[in-house]
Amino acid sequence: MAASKECILGIDIGTSATKSIIIDNEGKVLSSASMEYPLYTPHPDWSEQDPSDWWNATIRTVKEAISKSNIDAGSIKGVGLSGQMHGLVALDKNKNVIRPAFLWNDQRTLKQCQEIIEIAGGLDSLLKLTNNTMLPGYTGGKILWLKENEPSNYEKAIIFLNPKDFIRFKMTGEFATEVSDASGTGLFNVKERKWSNILLDKLGIDFNLLPRAYESPEISGYTTREFFLQTGLPEHTPVAGGGGDAVIQTTGSGLIEEGILGITIGTSGIAAMGMNSYKFNSTGNLQVFCNNSPSKWHMMGVTLAAGGSLQWYKNNLCKYELNSAREKNIDVYRILDDAVTSESPAGSKNLVFLPYLTGERCPYPDPNAKGVFIGATLRHTHADFTRSIMEGVSFSLKQVYELMTDMDKNLSVEEIIISGGGSNSPLWRQITSDVFQLPVRTVSGSKEGGAYGAALVAGAGCGIWKNVEESIKVLNVEKETLPNSSNSKIYKELYEIYKVLYPTLKPVFDKLHGDV
Ligand code: XUL
Repeated sequence: MAASKECILGIDIGTSATKSIIIDNEGKVLSSASMEYPLYTPHPDWSEQDPSDWWNATIRTVKEAISKSNIDAGSIKGVGLSGQMHGLVALDKNKNVIRPAFLWNDQRTLKQCQEIIEIAGGLDSLLKLTNNTMLPGYTGGKILWLKENEPSNYEKAIIFLNPKDFIRFKMTGEFATEVSDASGTGLFNVKERKWSNILLDKLGIDFNLLPRAYESPEISGYTTREFFLQTGLPEHTPVAGGGGDAVIQTTGSGLIEEGILGITIGTSGIAAMGMNSYKFNSTGNLQVFCNNSPSKWHMMGVTLAAGGSLQWYKNNLCKYELNSAREKNIDVYRILDDAVTSESPAGSKNLVFLPYLTGERCPYPDPNAKGVFIGATLRHTHADFTRSIMEGVSFSLKQVYELMTDMDKNLSVEEIIISGGGSNSPLWRQITSDVFQLPVRTVSGSKEGGAYGAALVAGAGCGIWKNVEESIKVLNVEKETLPNSSNSKIYKELYEIYKVLYPTLKPVFDKLHGDV
């Protein structure tokens, strides 16, 4: 057994899997374990999971992470929780789950979201209460849906929790959340960092149905004896507030201060930044939430199909490359990247891709938006199509970033920290750097996602670091990509063309929408 260091456990309740990691007080990852579970779509617009799957995966992965780490479990000074945001778990008076959990990507609540905006007195009034519009994924619309469609389940509920907060309850017996996930319910006064009683009153939702909201590093409870028997984690280990995954994975990449842009290219793409002071989200196009640092805020926009666009293309339009990757036993994305690097110039010879394969959330909140390749000619090759996808996603993220600079005209950004699966591609990092004309860096820990951020935030809460600002100092820059200035003009011109495409094609998207 290794000498006793101070360590922290980070747990992320993701949509495809739960991941538990243990890090030491220098930020080094000592062990990691993950376990997948299914997602259910009983109706086309619904997206649900069984909270007991998250709980079983938590027990399994915590136990495995402890055993793999080769440390004395007593050296784990605290636990940090991260989780998929905007979900809804309803518990009854016996603290049992009433029905399957609604997830962030569930689309059934469009009607309820419109009702909430109306009841609040219109979008401007809602923004004044919460600083966010009510997106169909958010918890607020789900609560109303339950009330309108399953009234007996609504009546049974004594508490509504986000996914990670259900796990907190199972680990500690406490009903609690923290400010970043609470922001993503759409019912939280983000400016004052407390539930919006005014909105809850207007909607007729009893304040007691929502858990107490802590700051992210604050200790919200202590682990139980039962959890010790299940996992080996000592009883009474403090559990910090933690954070919603999209916020806390940004923190785990070292992004708290204004001036550093975080880009995550996972299935979806996120452009995010810390805010040193509260700013009003006057259009409601961005998501403006409380930061994991108690004196800061967080803004972000999510483009829904980022890595997801390339994955769709790979699965459907790259049969030759897939076979070749299988034969040579190499990653198909490497084959695609190599072809682009040798055959396709920056700008893909004016072939432009709009990444709206699953509709869009930001910059355009539009479920009818569609994916498009435009500008194809006889000159274009397969590699140009591949490149245009990466460029289109990077343009979409740049549009999200421009919403940030519209909100704060004085915002100046000097670097990008990139994370997510897409950041493993040197080509995509270069495209990002060229499109933004900014240095792009990867940092240690960011590949561990929300679990790493959760561990850093919990470390601040249990005294390993003074605060979250100190905890992120353990991060090191790993790879740096500098912008190629000779591509700047090409991308500037193409980006201007890209920006007119959505407004031009919008009437066509609306006509194309419907069941086929
Ligand atoms: C953030 C969002 C997703 C989910 C799932 O607004 O919808 O990042 O948290 O991971």
